Amino acid sequence: MKVGIDRLSFYCPAYYLDLAKLAAVRQVDPNKYRVGLGQERMAVAPPDEDVVTMGANAALPIVEADGVEDLDWLLFATETGVDQSKAAAMFVHGLLELPERCTAVELKQACYSGTAALQFACAWVAAHPGRAVLIIAADIARYDLRSPGEPTQGAGAVAMRVCAQPRLLALDPWRGTYADDVMDFWRPNYREEALVDGPYSTRVYLNAMVECWKRYRDASGLQWDHLQRLCCHLPFTRIVEKGLQQLHRQAGWPAWSAEETARRISYGLAYNRQTGNTYAASLYESLTALFDTCPDDLSGDRIGLFSYGSGCTAEWFSGVVQPGYRAALWSEAHARRLAERVELDYQQYEDIVTLSMPRDGGEYVFAQYRTGPFRLAGMSQHKRVYERA
Ligand code: COA
Repeated sequence: MKVGIDRLSFYCPAYYLDLAKLAAVRQVDPNKYRVGLGQERMAVAPPDEDVVTMGANAALPIVEADGVEDLDWLLFATETGVDQSKAAAMFVHGLLELPERCTAVELKQACYSGTAALQFACAWVAAHPGRAVLIIAADIARYDLRSPGEPTQGAGAVAMRVCAQPRLLALDPWRGTYADDVMDFWRPNYREEALVDGPYSTRVYLNAMVECWKRYRDASGLQWDHLQRLCCHLPFTRIVEKGLQQLHRQAGWPAWSAEETARRISYGLAYNRQTGNTYAASLYESLTALFDTCPDDLSGDRIGLFSYGSGCTAEWFSGVVQPGYRAALWSEAHARRLAERVELDYQQYEDIVTLSMPRDGGEYVFAQYRTGPFRLAGMSQHKRVYERA
């Protein structure tokens, strides 16, 4: 029985900052961000958007198209949780009016947790054919103003439906995994902004990529040329180029020409260049972009996927694109969502990211920005109040 990803729905906030504008204010060459990091814009979540609203907005098309009756689990992967106790998944459960028997939990391991959710979901469906799991990966990547991580900030969400006989990607059974207790990136509970040792984090990511590849290769018996396309976790899109160089140096991958690299990699970078890092959603945003923007027929192609979460846990896995996959995509809606965003100037960006949530338990009604159907309407007695517009 095939098990895997049946639907992919992407959502990002309606606002962005052009990194050329950030470069001008920070007095750096804009090519450092555009070429050196491979980033063009960063998505900025307005004050009435959080991971709950982004996740619910991403999942809504799936729920409307496919219903909720066969859902056993809602798994919410994030490192931008809104509550230390109540799962973001529970708020979404309410907003989407999921059935009472559908269990909802939140998972965390930096940017890796969406992949944990996917593996759990596939195992569940394999044991319960005919049932389905809804996964949401959503995050807001935030670093200190003027820090090296600032141009890699971003925000966004991807919702996935996992079931048997999936319409998009049937997952292979093999995994290559790696875990090591390191401090490359972290966010203490008292901070809104993450802390990162960027150069160290990049080295750990690249090392994990090679170790995972070797284990995947040994487990599957496959070689690099069995993977027609490649999608990776993208803290910044240029990291894939570094990854390919590392695989070439340490694992015998060929040095691909620019055309070959573009064919296998570049379609999967299209959205992440426009949103910045979306942490848990990043790999699945890349996969969505590959499906949406690649003009070639991907049917039968095996896609290699590399998931990395700082701290660190990493995994190489793969899946095969299913015939007829295009009928299950929302490519036009995703393109429209990105194209219709509103550009912020630098001061608007700084005003939004330095705004803090109220902490005094008072009554607050939040200004209405552009969002999807779900928004954070305010706070009341320490409770978040969501609404469907
Ligand atoms: N034109 C083109 N490229 C330029 C350039 C210019 N004018 N100026 C600099 N660059 C290149 C640099 O050569 C470098 O490329 P290289 O890595 O191939 O050498 C790249 O741009 C970045 O420059 P660098 O000086 O290394 O940037 P930085 O010190 O400001 O930090 C990161 C870069 C990625 C380390 C930083 O943005 C960061 O920490 N990001 C967060 C990473 C993260 O989230 N990790 C955790 C999850 S995996």
